[in-house]
Amino acid sequence: MWHVLLLNGPNLNLLGTREPNIYGSETLERIVQRATDYARSLGIELRHVQSNHEGALIDALHEARAWADGVIINAGAYTHTSIALRDALSAIQLPTIEVHLSNIYAREPFRHISVIAPVCVGCISGFGAESYLLAIHAMSSILARQEGSHPNDETPTAQV
Ligand code: DQA
Repeated sequence: MWHVLLLNGPNLNLLGTREPNIYGSETLERIVQRATDYARSLGIELRHVQSNHEGALIDALHEARAWADGVIINAGAYTHTSIALRDALSAIQLPTIEVHLSNIYAREPFRHISVIAPVCVGCISGFGAESYLLAIHAMSSILARQEGSHPNDETPTAQV
């Protein structure tokens, strides 16, 4: 099994009731359950952390160095503002996928800039709760490509 940190930032704990016209009506708990089940089917154990606090998100990233193979992050509004979060992602050197429920490029101009995008492998934005599932799919491809690694080490050598 691979191990991936799923990190959700500020206000995402309110999903379900928060602006459902933008973010959908599914709760975070339900989204995380679906993501966990899908990840498991691809050989990934997902561990979820949600916090409204920038420092707690950074602490979770630092801790992930010890156990995680990758990170999937919806940093909420910190996406657009937090150099500290970007520096943490850059420091831990784990393959990271940025996720958003909404299409940040179709919204207010201040959401068009992601300060974490340059330190992520890629960004999935605009597919509602499915963005998380698409990110898990992409993460499994990234991890499978990593030399010599495979869930349960069933495949000993990489293809040439
Ligand atoms: C969000 C988009 C951000 O701009 C916003 O601040 C959020 C949620 C999304 O998932 O669409 O909190 O990250």
